[in-house]
Amino acid sequence: MFSSPIEEIKNRLDIVEVIGSYIKLQKTGANLRAVCPFHSEKKPSLFVSPARQIWHCFGCSAGGDIFKFVMQIEGVEFGDALRILAQKAGVELRKYATAEAAHFQTERNRLLEICELTCRFFEKQLEASAVGKEAKQYLLKRGLKPESIEKWRLGYAPDVWQGLSDFLASRNYQKSEIEKAGLGLTSEKGSFYDRFRGRIIFPVFDFNSQVIGFGGRIFKEKDKENIAKYVNTPQTLLYDKSRTLYGLDKAKVEIRKKDACIMVEGYMDAIMSFQAGVENVVATSGTALTNLQLKILKRYSNNLLSAFDMDIAGDSATKRGIELAQAQGFNIKVVTMAGGKDPADIVVENPENWMRMIEGAKSILQFYFESAFGHFDAKTPEGKREISKVLLPVLKIIPNAIERAHWTQELARKLQVKEEIVEEELKNISGVPLAAPFLDEEAPIAPKVMTRKQLLEERTASLVLRNPISTLELITDDFLPYFDPKIQTIFVDLKQQKTLPQSDEFVNYLFLRGEVEGESVDCSAEVKLSLREIEKMETKNKLDGISQEIKKAELEKELERVNNLTREFNKLANKLLD
Ligand code: UTP
Ligand code: MN
Repeated sequence: MFSSPIEEIKNRLDIVEVIGSYIKLQKTGANLRAVCPFHSEKKPSLFVSPARQIWHCFGCSAGGDIFKFVMQIEGVEFGDALRILAQKAGVELRKYATAEAAHFQTERNRLLEICELTCRFFEKQLEASAVGKEAKQYLLKRGLKPESIEKWRLGYAPDVWQGLSDFLASRNYQKSEIEKAGLGLTSEKGSFYDRFRGRIIFPVFDFNSQVIGFGGRIFKEKDKENIAKYVNTPQTLLYDKSRTLYGLDKAKVEIRKKDACIMVEGYMDAIMSFQAGVENVVATSGTALTNLQLKILKRYSNNLLSAFDMDIAGDSATKRGIELAQAQGFNIKVVTMAGGKDPADIVVENPENWMRMIEGAKSILQFYFESAFGHFDAKTPEGKREISKVLLPVLKIIPNAIERAHWTQELARKLQVKEEIVEEELKNISGVPLAAPFLDEEAPIAPKVMTRKQLLEERTASLVLRNPISTLELITDDFLPYFDPKIQTIFVDLKQQKTLPQSDEFVNYLFLRGEVEGESVDCSAEVKLSLREIEKMETKNKLDGISQEIKKAELEKELERVNNLTREFNKLANKLLD
């Protein structure tokens, strides 16, 4: 048995699988490498060692085990990383009835349990209750396949005031908890009632397919005029619509594979797109793209395809969302859908049309140009004004100056005015105030600051670990004291042929570093070079010390000492010249 959940999780999960579910890994010898998601780089300097179950980025010095990776990439605390990985590994945290495990049995977990239980309750209602079956018929008529209904866990909320809340109460959940999960409300008169009643339920999942909220849609003709089409979970501890992307848990792999993400508006659109075989799609649930959502998407791809209903004139929320994405450096294309249809409509008609439209997506600038010039008459002064009103703000926020110049010329040409005039106007309009790009907003992980000596010490140690037979004898007792105590211990252990501690993070890091850096070098020659360098540095340090002392002795007029020190200084200095 394992003494801690951490140990059991590590035993069950493979680091390659865990990290590989977030970023693309390439095999290189015994290890794997990837472009580091924690700092900006083009060449991959993050390495994953299956043998040691650790990762390390030689660019920004981030590294550690699977917990460290999940914490960093998901931006969560240790407790959350533990929960995420426990779920992945199928490890029951509760059976570790330690103080540690109890600590993670937080309010969050209670709410997650409630949401999961609620989802099952609604799923059952869709299958079993009379009206639920009607709801299911509606979904089938809309073109959903039974497999999709199952996959997306669609359900039905019975049309009563206390269906779900009675059920949850019977499972020992408090009203306060049901309310915190966003599932129940207290009326002015003080009675408690269900938020979702008589609606088709779309559960909303987090990144790990855990249910965190719900959207409930009406489906009966008679409801159409009277009540809102959708009721949604309000902001809760679990659900924050500004950072939720519906379908991301199912789409993330495909988004990375295709290196593109299609954005749609509605639940139905996302599900129908999946059904048509287009699986790199997420829905924003009817809100404009937020910076938080964009930040999450950045981890997967820099290419967005907007399948939103785009109204070019006016300051729509959709347009602002797209502008945010532009400002964050995304490449954006627009999927144009004719005749006021949404993706779900298109898929129902003919799934291939949906694929064709995605292939035919236009660059955002091309889209804006075509729409603006299609909308207004470029020959009349009013038309020119309207066109420039639409296009100038779009030009203004193109981050790349060359690209901006290209479109500025294009606009001048098509409006038949001088380019300088367009440039002048561009200066005059105030760009939409946008958040600074993420990279500035959030300081990149500061590289571990190491002195040159520390770098050399680590390099030497890692090469010795890689090839002790040809290098260990070079680390003589003269050199040993030059190293950090941690590294000294490793050398001593090696010399005494002791096995090094398997779980020591530093030792593992050095091993990985040796595997990565020692691949095509002559380890013994490299170690010799490093040792010489280290020795030189040590000597220089000593010389500095001596010259300080000489100064002091001179001040104190101790001639004898000055002479002795000078002699020592010269002797050491000569050694440097060897
Ligand atoms: P749509 O009106 O396009 O709905 O809103 P839809 O999802 O395509 O549904 P169908 O095709 O009519 O069945 C897009 C999204 O906006 C949110 C929902 O998340 C919806 O999926 N929305 C819409 C609301 O939150 N409340 C509303 O009243 C309407
Ligand atoms: Mn729709």
